Amino acid sequence: MQPRIIVHGGAGAIADALVKGHLQGCREAAEEGLRLLWEGAPAEEAVERAICLLEDDEVFDAGRGSFLNMDGVVEMDAAFMEGASLLVGAVAGVRKFAHPISLARLVMESEHVLLVGEGATRFALSHGLRQCPAEWLIVPREREAWERQRRAQGVGDTVGAVALDERGHLAVGLSTGGRPFKFPGRVGDVPCVGAGFYVDDGAGGVAASGEGEAILRVALARRVMEQLERGIHPQEAASWAIGLLYQRVGGHAGLIVLDRQGRVGCAFNTRRMSRAWNEGKEIIACIERG
Ligand code: GLY
Repeated sequence: MQPRIIVHGGAGAIADALVKGHLQGCREAAEEGLRLLWEGAPAEEAVERAICLLEDDEVFDAGRGSFLNMDGVVEMDAAFMEGASLLVGAVAGVRKFAHPISLARLVMESEHVLLVGEGATRFALSHGLRQCPAEWLIVPREREAWERQRRAQGVGDTVGAVALDERGHLAVGLSTGGRPFKFPGRVGDVPCVGAGFYVDDGAGGVAASGEGEAILRVALARRVMEQLERGIHPQEAASWAIGLLYQRVGGHAGLIVLDRQGRVGCAFNTRRMSRAWNEGKEIIACIERG
């Protein structure tokens, strides 16, 4: 099987000033994930490493650079899933972790599926993860947006990755700071299996970005999977699901999709969505439509 990876840096009203950073960040994350896949690493390694890079890159709403909630605090959600045994791990409302995606993977490898807040922190510490200072996650752009008491219009939302390794095994991961000025304790689609993500080696995988409440209400990822299970091309499946999201609940979001044959798709009805994927050994990065 030829390795394949597709990553995204969020669907939203990404400001012109951030376009270059989004493209570069997505490209580097896809390159690193692909490098690991060519070395024979499992899909999980490629997904975790790609998302760690996106979390470290402050241009994205994940890890350092996350949106602040109403209280001026970063609270993050993340999820991991693998497509052989359908193992899922997710965390919600976690603070003071540089890499929530690594925590989600640890949860996936435990007996749990979803851990929140304090419990997730206890689990992380007991598994050797270190906390970072809460202030380290906050970048001046987001502090200023919060202080102006307005919605940050210029950024995307969530990062995600889907990878197919040379054994034909798929994995997906997502990480987010959620929505700007969100109510403390608010949780969106990212840690919810079937809404923000799904993967199955028998069909393919999908990662979403956008308005979490709308994505949750239509179980968007499962809608895509139903199309993939019928053999529909990932591009057609993604476009159809975004149409359905808008028709049914007026939602705005984006999707990256990778099927078991290694075919990719991406659709969004936001202004922009940054993403990158490979064609053989070449990485392609885009942010506009088309
Ligand atoms: N899609 C991210 C969120 O709504 O939290």
